[in-house]
Amino acid sequence: MDIQGAVALIAGGGGGFGAASARRLHAAGAKVLISDLDEAKGTAIADELGDGAVFVRTDVTDEESIQAAIDAALELGPLRIGVVAHGGPGGPRTLDRDNQPAPQASFDRVIAIFLQATYNLDRLLAAAIARSEPAESGERGVIVNTASIAAYDGTIGQTAYAAAKGGIVSMTLPLARDLAPLGIRAVTIAPGTFLTPAYRDADPEQLDAYWGAAVPFPKRMGRAEEYAQLVQQVAENVYLNGETIRLDGGLRFTPKGAK
Ligand SMILES: NC(=O)c1ccc[n+]([C@@H]2O[C@H](COP(=O)([O-])OP(=O)(O)OC[C@H]3O[C@@H](n4cnc5c(N)ncnc54)[C@H](O)[C@@H]3O)[C@@H](O)[C@H]2O)c1
Repeated sequence: MDIQGAVALIAGGGGGFGAASARRLHAAGAKVLISDLDEAKGTAIADELGDGAVFVRTDVTDEESIQAAIDAALELGPLRIGVVAHGGPGGPRTLDRDNQPAPQASFDRVIAIFLQATYNLDRLLAAAIARSEPAESGERGVIVNTASIAAYDGTIGQTAYAAAKGGIVSMTLPLARDLAPLGIRAVTIAPGTFLTPAYRDADPEQLDAYWGAAVPFPKRMGRAEEYAQLVQQVAENVYLNGETIRLDGGLRFTPKGAK
């Protein structure tokens, strides 16, 4: 796909992966619709990028809110790229120290924000991308979802998160198959551990050393720019479709994650 002149909607566009993707796609000539719950973060990225960057406050758990962001993206031009990279809560262990079961509501919440909201974004994005004229190749656009390596090797306390991310991995192929007649691709990125604001309270150097030690090579956490680099490649390489790509330096989680 030719990114130049395309419109990209980035859900979670104020966050680590989202902001890096917005910067990268904007630098490659796309107009970017930065969609995020956090007004301060989203506005900061839109202001930094200037022309061709718009922020719309969005709650991805609310369908009307998603649709409003998509409508705003369509006003910028032909919507061709959807990047789904919003964050959400973690979950507890299945039994606590007193063998009490985790609240079912905490599981449901994680599924709602990571899995259900991803599908809601995907289907509404697909309908909007379907309205764009196809390129000569027949391609209309691409949806890039974000899973996690927890989809494959979830750690202690990650039942809900792993189930949600596993759901995103599993729906990638049928989504690509559903959208193929329209020339819309679907690809999922499954990141390892990346140094982003998702690790709110931790010291970045300590974090990088702790997680980096578990990565075969390179011995550090990933950088959001590396995620964004892959987003650009996924957008540009029309032959990537229906696939989940691990981006993890070869990391495989142990039960506790790193040690
Ligand atoms: N950072 C990592 O190591 C890592 C690894 C694997 C997978 N991931 C996944 O990548 C995605 C993004 O992670 P990140 O590290 O960039 O996180 P982040 O915390 O830096 O950014 C997430 C963004 O999502 C926004 N957000 C939260 N709830 C929202 C809602 N209801 N509606 C709209 N926006 C909302 C936040 O305001 C924030 O700007 C998540 O799905 C995460 O599970 C991250």
